[in-house]
Amino acid sequence: MSELKGARAPRGRWTAPAIAALKRRGEPIAVATAYDFPTARLADEAGVEVLLVGDSLGTVVLGYESTLPVTMADMLHHVKAVVRARPAALVVADMPFMSYQASVEEAVRNAGRFVQEGGADAIKLEGGERVAPAVRRIVEIGIPVMGHLGLTPQSLLAFGGYKVQGKGEGEAERLIGEARLLEQCGCFSMVLEGIPAGLGEAVTRAVGIPTIGIGAGVACDGQVLVSHDLLGLTQGRVPKFVRRYADLAGTMREAFARYVADVKARRFPADEESY
Ligand code: KIV
Repeated sequence: MSELKGARAPRGRWTAPAIAALKRRGEPIAVATAYDFPTARLADEAGVEVLLVGDSLGTVVLGYESTLPVTMADMLHHVKAVVRARPAALVVADMPFMSYQASVEEAVRNAGRFVQEGGADAIKLEGGERVAPAVRRIVEIGIPVMGHLGLTPQSLLAFGGYKVQGKGEGEAERLIGEARLLEQCGCFSMVLEGIPAGLGEAVTRAVGIPTIGIGAGVACDGQVLVSHDLLGLTQGRVPKFVRRYADLAGTMREAFARYVADVKARRFPADEESY
């Protein structure tokens, strides 16, 4: 714990160096997505160490079919809501499609907006070699960066669907090389998504910064799930790697149905709920 003290802000908030230090202590890191004030509060109270305002916002909250339509404006709106919860957790803002791909300058500017306007503690972006120059510059100006390798959803069109990545030997070697490169560029951690568990373990051994897995096996230094998936709010099929810890969809549906029934039967409001 003494190693972590200096890395924490005065109010006991998690910092990027403190999260990175958890790997050296061998303590698994719990990461969950959050897009709004109440969810951020609840996840934080439960001990989640990193709140990722993911661009999964597009599919789980905004009703898009992929993350590609999500904009900086969408993301900033939700990053601010999560930051207003004043969590102890580190708040990581996910850079949406086309906010960092066109040029290093645009990447730096948009990363800066997440910190300056949004109040985020760090940013995340997808990719390895092709984003290395942007990662270097963003880290240089003092913004902690979380990388993201494997099944990167913003490359959905190029992958031809949500397919497990890094399956062949050459692919696996390339991914390990990109993980090392992201570490050299200064990332404080990286998400590994949709890769074989053995490769998740190999990457975790190959780098000194924490790997945060989602469908990447138990050997990763931490795990991340989309909160709507883990809470059972996602309707329909969910990926194999999801574990549901609640059935909030069922709970909500039943509550709405009881409310409708009470309104129709004039059981709501009662005298004590009236002025
Ligand atoms: O957008 C997101 O929620 C993510 C996580 C699934 C890692 O990138």
